[in-house]
Amino acid sequence: DILRQADEILAGLTLEEKVGQMTQYDWGFNPINPETGVSQRDLLREEIAQGRVGSIFNLSGAEEANELQQLIQDRTNHRIPLLIGRDVIHGYQTVFPIPLAQASAWKPELARRTAEAASRESMADGVAWVFAPMIDIARDPRWGRIAESIGEDPLLASAYAKAWVEGAQVDDGAGEAAASCPKHFAGYGLAEAGRDYNTVDLSDRVLREVILPPFREAVEAGALSIMASFNEIDGIPACANAYLLKTILRDEWGFEGVVASDYNALQELITHGVAGSEEEACERAILAGCDMDMHAGIYMRHLPRLVREGRVPERVVDDSVRRILALKIKLGLIEQPFIRIPSVEEKQAARASYTALAREAARESIVLLRNEGDVLPLRQSNAAIAVIGPLADNRKDPLGCWALDGNPDDVVSMLTGIQAAAGEGVAVLHAEGCGIDGDDESGFASAIETARAADVVVLALGESLEMSGESRSRTSLDLPGMQRKLAEAIIALGKPVVAVLLSGRPLALPWLAERCHAIVQAWQLGVQSGHAIADVLFGAHNPSGRLPATFPHNVGQVPIYYYRKKTGRPPAGVYSSYYIDSTTEPLYPFGYGLSYTRFEYGAIRADRTTMGAEDTLRLTVTVTNAGERAGEETVQCYVRDEVASVTQPLKKLIGFRKVALAPGESADVTFAVGSGELAILDQHMKLTVEPGDFTLWVGPHSGAGESVSVKVTAAAVHAEAGRV
Ligand code: IFM
Repeated sequence: DILRQADEILAGLTLEEKVGQMTQYDWGFNPINPETGVSQRDLLREEIAQGRVGSIFNLSGAEEANELQQLIQDRTNHRIPLLIGRDVIHGYQTVFPIPLAQASAWKPELARRTAEAASRESMADGVAWVFAPMIDIARDPRWGRIAESIGEDPLLASAYAKAWVEGAQVDDGAGEAAASCPKHFAGYGLAEAGRDYNTVDLSDRVLREVILPPFREAVEAGALSIMASFNEIDGIPACANAYLLKTILRDEWGFEGVVASDYNALQELITHGVAGSEEEACERAILAGCDMDMHAGIYMRHLPRLVREGRVPERVVDDSVRRILALKIKLGLIEQPFIRIPSVEEKQAARASYTALAREAARESIVLLRNEGDVLPLRQSNAAIAVIGPLADNRKDPLGCWALDGNPDDVVSMLTGIQAAAGEGVAVLHAEGCGIDGDDESGFASAIETARAADVVVLALGESLEMSGESRSRTSLDLPGMQRKLAEAIIALGKPVVAVLLSGRPLALPWLAERCHAIVQAWQLGVQSGHAIADVLFGAHNPSGRLPATFPHNVGQVPIYYYRKKTGRPPAGVYSSYYIDSTTEPLYPFGYGLSYTRFEYGAIRADRTTMGAEDTLRLTVTVTNAGERAGEETVQCYVRDEVASVTQPLKKLIGFRKVALAPGESADVTFAVGSGELAILDQHMKLTVEPGDFTLWVGPHSGAGESVSVKVTAAAVHAEAGRV
C-alpha cells in the first residue's frame, strides 16, 4: 500500500522534482555572501520553494519546521513535505551518556529506552529522522569517534544496534513516528592510524565477520535508512561502492530503506580521486545505489542531465525516489506535515521522566577499574572530601561530543553531585588545580593545600568534549595538559585518592593505575553526570559497568582488542610477536569492571563433551554474591575454535547475561551454544561449523574465566549460511 501510494506521488513529479527529493542540505550551514548580503538560508528557502529539496538537517525547533513545511504547501506543485534530520546521537535536549558509555552498561534494553526518549524529544521539535545509532566497530582509541561507538565487539554492538534501532524508531501508530539511520556503512572505524577519514583497508573476511554484523542486525530490526560512510572499502569510497550498497545491502540482506551519503561525500569522490568531475561523481554514486546526496548538491546539479543524456536510466532515479517517498509516508509526513507544538506543561513532564532515565543510564555506564583497600564507597565518617581537577566544577564537558541540543546549564557537575550526596557535616572542598589542557600550573599550590585539608581526595580528570567525536583523533592517550603532573603532586601527599576519569575514549594511564587507590571510568555521562558519579562514589549505586573496549598500556599497542588471532608466533620473547619495550597485554581487558561486592563462579557444568553440529550444548555456572552488598554481575561466555580451515580469534564473545544478586544469593546462569555460536566463515566464505575441538569460557571478562572443551563430531553448513 505504501509503495502504491509512493508510486502515485512519483508519477506526478518532473525529473527535477524527483532529484529534489534525493537532495538534502544542512540548514545550519548559513554563511552570508559578503557581496550580495544574501544568506545561504535565503537561497535554500528558494530552492525549497522550487521543489528542489527533499530533506534538510540541523534545523531544530517546531516553529521553524512548520514554517518550512508551510512554504512547501504554499509554493511547490508537489507539496511533498521535507524530511527533517539531525544528529540525535545520545539524547536531544536531555543528553544521555555517550554511546561508548551506554555500551559499558551491557544493557541494550536501557539503550532502547534512551534512544526512544531521544526520538520522542526530538520529534516534538520537528526532527523525525535521527542519524543514529553509530555502530562502527572501533578498535583504536586514537580515533575520536570511538566515543560514539558501541566499542570493539561485534556481538555487543549487534545487541545494541537492534535495541537502538527499535527504540529510536518510535511509532505510536497515530501518525507520530521516527526513523533511525544506522551509520557509517561500512568500515569507518578502521581508519588507518586512528586518523579520522583516513584510508580503510580491510579484507572481505573482516568486513563480514567483524564490521557488518551490527548493520545486519540493524537492518533486521527494521532500520528505515542507512548512512554510507566517508571511507573507501577496497579502493572505492562507500557512497560509490556497489558491492556494499547493492550486493550486500540490497541483494543479500533485502534492505528496502533509504541510503543517504555522509556530509558532502559525493563531492569527496573527487578528492578521493575516483571521479574527475562532479558529473562523474554523480554518475558513480547513483549507479552504486546511493539514494540521497547529503549537502553536496551534486545530484541536483547533474543528475537530471545525466538521465536526459541516457547515462543514468530514469528507473534508477525512480527507485531511489520511491524509497524516499515511502519513508515520508511511513513517518506520517505526507498526511500531516506539521508538528503539534507541545504545551509547556507537556514538555516539562516529559523532561522530568527523561531526566530520571538520564540518571539511571549514567550510573549504569560507570566502570569501576580499581579499588585498592576498598577506598570506595566513600565512608560517611570522612570529615572533609576534596574534589580537585578541571572536570570537578565543569558543566560543559560531561555533555560529550554531538550534544548539539544539550545545554551546560542542565548538567549536574561532579562537584554539585558530591555536595548533594555528602552527608550533613561533611565538608566538600574544591580546587581546580589546572585546566584540561595547557601548561598553567598556577593552581597547583591551592589544590595541594585543599587536598591536605581533606581525609580523601577525588581527582576529576580527563578530556574536554572537543577532544573526541568527529575529526578529533589524538596521538596521545595520556591525560592532556598538566593533569598528570597535578595528579602526581596530589597522590604524593599520601592521602586516599580516587580518580574519576571523564573521557570520550579509553585512555592509557598505567602510572595512575599503579599509584591511585581507586579509578572510576565515568566517560561523559550527560546531564545527570554529577549525581550518577556521586551515587557510585557514596555507594547508593553499586557499579556494574564493564568495558566495551580494551584499555591499553600505551599508545604504541593500538589497535588493541581482545578478538585477536594467535599468529604463528604468539608473544613469548625474542622472535615472537611481542614488543621489546612493552607488554602485549592490555591495561584493562574488554569486559572488565569491578563491583563493591565479590562474585564467585562455580565450576562450569557442560551437559555434553561431544556434539553434532546440529546439537545444542548447555553451559551452566553458579554465580554467587559472596560479598556484603547487592550487586549485578555481567557473566560473559567466549569461544575459540582450536583448529579450523581459517585462522580464528583467540576468543570470541558469544553471549552475556547480567544477574542481580543480593548478598549471599546464588544464581545459575546458562548459555546455550549451538551452530550459530560455533559457526565460522570458512575458506570458501561459507558459514560453517567445522568438526574438531572448541574451548568455551564463562567468566567475568575476556581475560578470565574457567574453560571447558567440547568436540564437534561432524561438519555442517550453518542454517543461516550467508547471514554475514
Ligand atoms: O551524521 C553525521 C555523520 O555521522 C558525520 N558527518 C556529518 C553527518 C551529519 O551531521
